[in-house]
Amino acid sequence: SGPVPTTDRPPIGVIGGSGFYEFLDDVANLTVDTPYGPPSDGLSIGRLAGRPVAFLPRHGRRHTLAPHRINYRANLWALRAVGVRQVLAAGAVGGLRPDLGPGTLVVPDQLVDRTSGREQTYHDGTPGADGQLPGVVHAPFADPYCPVGRATVLDAGRSAGWQPVDGGTMVVIEGPRFSTRAESRWYGREGWSVVGMTGHPEAVLARELALCYTALSLVTDLDSGVEVGHGVTQQEVFAVFARNVDRLRGLLSEAVTTLPEGQDDCPCDWSPAGTENGTTDDARHD
Ligand code: ADE
Repeated sequence: SGPVPTTDRPPIGVIGGSGFYEFLDDVANLTVDTPYGPPSDGLSIGRLAGRPVAFLPRHGRRHTLAPHRINYRANLWALRAVGVRQVLAAGAVGGLRPDLGPGTLVVPDQLVDRTSGREQTYHDGTPGADGQLPGVVHAPFADPYCPVGRATVLDAGRSAGWQPVDGGTMVVIEGPRFSTRAESRWYGREGWSVVGMTGHPEAVLARELALCYTALSLVTDLDSGVEVGHGVTQQEVFAVFARNVDRLRGLLSEAVTTLPEGQDDCPCDWSPAGTENGTTDDARHD
């Protein structure tokens, strides 16, 4: 008989971006329902470097969901429901500076939200309805990313043969269009490093659920305001991401071996109250 799919509760969740789908061993597929509707796809629960890991493709397995159509609330809720405490979120971004060219891995430490109209809270004034989280809550978000997760990913990146960039601001645009040259120059002048479409509200929803969240931003193009660039295309984004998938897998297996299970040394688990709902095990095996 073949390998037995893992059914351990995975403490680590990986969210994959454009072109990053299957990379776990001994995979079981899990359909998870949430009070917010279905996540982008079923979760893959498997092993990476021997540790149980949950994987969710952000855009769906066949890349059918545009960034503004992703059910971010369901995605984070589903990961929490199967036991995830640490989220490693890979995503394609454009570089806003000439020195952040294609293939660069940035581990941002700040975020600017330029999205509009996306659901970005679990606390939307429906106290307790259908298992939803209660009333008005303002999550602390000064530092949107987990410092322990960031340090772990930076170390893992170095071991995997990358020279990851430590810190920088990711500006998240609504999309699905890319930025104009004027917008892009503006973002660059503000001192922001990279531009993406999915980093928000993912990060804040993770924080509301008291999850550790670390962004792994793979630069696939120089955005349109960078003078040496030619304006970004979708083909370019997919091609560069595909070229870096092996390296990303190497980084992730290194990271999951060293990532702590607990949340003792970070501020991410800020709200013991209200997060209990996230642990309800409303998942079933396919
Ligand atoms: N994702 C990848 N490249 C991007 C860019 N230039 N702008 C926004 N999102 C992106």
